[in-house]
Amino acid sequence: MEENKKIIFSGIQPSGELTLGNYLGALKNWVKLQDEYDCYFCVVDLHAITVKQKSADLRRRTLEVLAIYIAAGINPEKNTLFIQSHVPAHSEAAWLLTCNSYMGELSRMTQFKDKSKKHGESVPTGLFTYPVLMAADILLYQTDLVPVGVDQKQHLELARDLGGRFNSAYSQTFKIPEPYIPPVGAKIMSLQEPTKKMSKSDENVNGFILIMDPPDVIRRKISRAVTDSIGVVNYTDEQPGIKNLINILSAIKGYTSDEIVAMYKDKGYSEFKNDVAEAIIEELKPLQDKVNEFLKDKKSLETIYKAGADKANYMANKTLRKVQKKIGLIPR
Ligand code: AMP
Ligand code: TRP
Repeated sequence: MEENKKIIFSGIQPSGELTLGNYLGALKNWVKLQDEYDCYFCVVDLHAITVKQKSADLRRRTLEVLAIYIAAGINPEKNTLFIQSHVPAHSEAAWLLTCNSYMGELSRMTQFKDKSKKHGESVPTGLFTYPVLMAADILLYQTDLVPVGVDQKQHLELARDLGGRFNSAYSQTFKIPEPYIPPVGAKIMSLQEPTKKMSKSDENVNGFILIMDPPDVIRRKISRAVTDSIGVVNYTDEQPGIKNLINILSAIKGYTSDEIVAMYKDKGYSEFKNDVAEAIIEELKPLQDKVNEFLKDKKSLETIYKAGADKANYMANKTLRKVQKKIGLIPR
């Protein structure tokens, strides 16, 4: 670890297969940050269990997400890659912060409101306290910046509030983190309902592209993507389907939306869609091959997550001990 580098923390839940939204909105941006920052990238398995998971699936996906991190280009030698449950300080700090959080502020979280609707009378408590665990993840590492999609901004605000509240009550303990929202790829929308975020929990599988989807599936999903009857490739809110495809192409190729509109000025949607599909395939295919290699070599994945856990435990415990002491817990 280099002392003067700023600290970045982020994580993805292994609660389903990762989507193109996760890749363009999160991973692809993380890769660019690793030289400049001291980065902690976590597979947040404890967040995943806020909704029911089959144990075998959770195990498989946790390793798959780690393999995807590395295959996407995150260097495990330069960054700390680890599994959240391997660092008990996250759960412990989450409890200590829970005792300094309010029902009201957690009730206002839009993700909680959305997700809890699906559970009728039996809303899991973990869904409610989920943002406090996320705050613990971030605050334990004295994080400067948190790269997340716009959907996570509210959770980050809460982390800032909880950190600030603790600092005022007990003296300076936590660094207050800033969000780091990438300019492009910040929100990739569903291919079927382009006003909704692309999400792995969408019931309609045509709404999302998975990082591990084979080329023919990607071609099929893009060709079925909802567009409009205007017939001209334009970047406007009146054409949310086309706008989303432009954002996808832009995030992959680095072209601006204006450049893309100019490129397809006299061309139809089918040619545009075709190029979007091929761009996605070209981007994902090498990554998929690497993921499959890693998953065959569980030993090297294990070496990586164990080294990550050692480093993360050391850093997280330093903060946790301070928090415990300030609260008045007796040190062991
Ligand atoms: P999640 O899949 O909810 O665990 O999200 C992991 C990371 O991917 C977070 O930083 C999200 O903001 C980001 N992310 C998830 N879905 C999308 C999307 N459709 N567009 C952009 N970013 C996304
Ligand atoms: N809640 C985040 C999401 O669903 C995942 C997450 C958990 C996270 N802990 C985090 C993201 C800490 C950034 C920092 O996307």
